[in-house]
Amino acid sequence: MNKQRTLIFIKPDGVQRGLIGKIVSRFEQVGLKIVGLKFIFASKEKIIAHYPETEAWFRKVGQRTLTNYAKKGLDAKKIFKIDDPVEIGKIIKGWLINYLQESPIFLMVLEGYDCVETVRKLCGETIPALALAGTIRGDFSHDSIDLANEQNRPLRNVIHASETPEEAKKEINLWFSQNELFDYERADERFMYGKKIS
Ligand code: CMP
Repeated sequence: MNKQRTLIFIKPDGVQRGLIGKIVSRFEQVGLKIVGLKFIFASKEKIIAHYPETEAWFRKVGQRTLTNYAKKGLDAKKIFKIDDPVEIGKIIKGWLINYLQESPIFLMVLEGYDCVETVRKLCGETIPALALAGTIRGDFSHDSIDLANEQNRPLRNVIHASETPEEAKKEINLWFSQNELFDYERADERFMYGKKIS
């Protein structure tokens, strides 16, 4: 069976707004197991390594921004002075590097059956204004891309969650060492899954 691990971190807006407890309980109540956690000031080097330094990542983030501006009838060029998605992605990464150092961040490794997808679902859409009610971003923020960019800052979307199982492995290895991750059985597992998942 497909036991997976994934990584989340609560960003400075979530930490500063006192949302850590509420967010942790969202994951616990669906039966996901906490196998690692830490509360740290992230180094610039770690943040740079966390968000891929690849053209594909810059393009994805930049393109999502352009699409959102177009949907709202806004001109992205007014804010960014350029309309190349890759260059826009690079600007956003620069904002993230500064922003994520403004406060401690709260990281967790969660484990469960197909949990990468479940955790993304619980977090909701990247853009809080579009995230459904009931999701973490939909319930705890209503930030939008145009407001964020007007202020030269990243979206304050409360939480980061790995997007794919491969990304999860990379991110867990980046932020956690093996001796900070725990293998143990939680009392409710037998009742949730019927038998032990592996
Ligand atoms: P995250 O899930 O951490 O992955 C990339 C982050 O970039 C995303 O959450 C947002 O915080 C940020 N982001 C993506 N697009 C934009 C944008 N257009 N403006 C500001 N921040 C953005």
